[in-house]
Amino acid sequence: MAKRVLVSGGAGYIGSHVTVELINAGYEVVVADNMSNCDLTCFEGVKKITGKEDIPFEKMDCCDDAAVNALFSKYRIDAVIHFAAFKAVGESVAEPIKYYRNNLDSFLNILEAAKTHGGCNVLFSSSATVYGETDRLPVTEQSPRQPATSPYGNTKQICEDILRDVVKATASCDAMEPGTDRNGTVKGIALRYFNPIGAHPSALIGELPRGVPNNLVPFITQTAIGKRECLSIFGNDYPTPDGTCQRDYIDIVDLAKAHVAAVGRMLDGKMKESYEIFNVGTGRPVSVLELVNAFEKVNNLKLNYKFAPRRPGDVTAIWADPTLANRELGWKAGRSIEDTLAAAWAWEKHLAGK
Ligand code: UD1
Repeated sequence: MAKRVLVSGGAGYIGSHVTVELINAGYEVVVADNMSNCDLTCFEGVKKITGKEDIPFEKMDCCDDAAVNALFSKYRIDAVIHFAAFKAVGESVAEPIKYYRNNLDSFLNILEAAKTHGGCNVLFSSSATVYGETDRLPVTEQSPRQPATSPYGNTKQICEDILRDVVKATASCDAMEPGTDRNGTVKGIALRYFNPIGAHPSALIGELPRGVPNNLVPFITQTAIGKRECLSIFGNDYPTPDGTCQRDYIDIVDLAKAHVAAVGRMLDGKMKESYEIFNVGTGRPVSVLELVNAFEKVNNLKLNYKFAPRRPGDVTAIWADPTLANRELGWKAGRSIEDTLAAAWAWEKHLAGK
């Protein structure tokens, strides 16, 4: 019988790409989403890409513990991939309560249900933001985490710690006296994403930012299509080869495949520890200017951009050492930055009906 994976936040940008790859790999998938930051565009795209019209979809809020419990009663869940969270860094600084309430409550409800419904494998979507500013590059999973610079980043750190503690506690349940709070064992993996960009090569799913995009690639594609007048490159006086910040841009389909590999590792009993962390990146630093130039070249267009002051909170440079994920997950980022930027542009044109 095919294993079933619950994808919370599965109608969003990363969740929809992961749903496609899980279905392609033969998993049953249940998507749960409260649609707070997306519409049905991507879910419909997932159905078209996979040719699967009957993907179970539950419109629900993971902050509602009764709804999460009901979900786990309705379906036998073998693994959960938890994406359901707010993700705008600036908004989290302005509205910390909203961020802590949403991002922590939803994860706690998932973990509680996972535990009480007989145990489960839980994959948490973490972020390279936990490493903060560091000059020891690339970062490995052993690199120290830095104090978070935003409530959003802090929720990623706290959720990693919650998962670690729940895994530890449920593992020691096995040794408990009968009648104590045994429930099921929870095993966990945290994937620390670097900068996810791009879209599915079909151009049927991609990123759908609401309002003015905060992230670089949607701002670039919206400028190229004429929705924004000009891209501001934040800072050209950083101590990097061309003065602009460097990041590790990971293709969204490559990123989705890392989830399939991690879920397989959990379900096939291949984990070496009950809680594991993996960097998901390419290992290749790319500057903002290099990214802009690559976008122009591969799509054969000129982008209107200017240099602007540094954006508060940006780190100079960060990129992954992905060796652990390469070795243990048998996964490696494969798509070139050019293919990724061509896909991002195709998606923007698809949205514009061009
Ligand atoms: C941020 C978050 C990260 C989150 C990611 C995806 C932090 C410190 N970073 O990463 O946790 O996972 O978004 O949501 O919390 N840039 C411009 N002009 C623009 C937009 C961006 O020059 O209009 C530059 C930035 O200065 C940066 C690079 O592009 O150097 C990437 O920015 P962005 O896409 O926002 O991602 P991060 O800030 O790296």
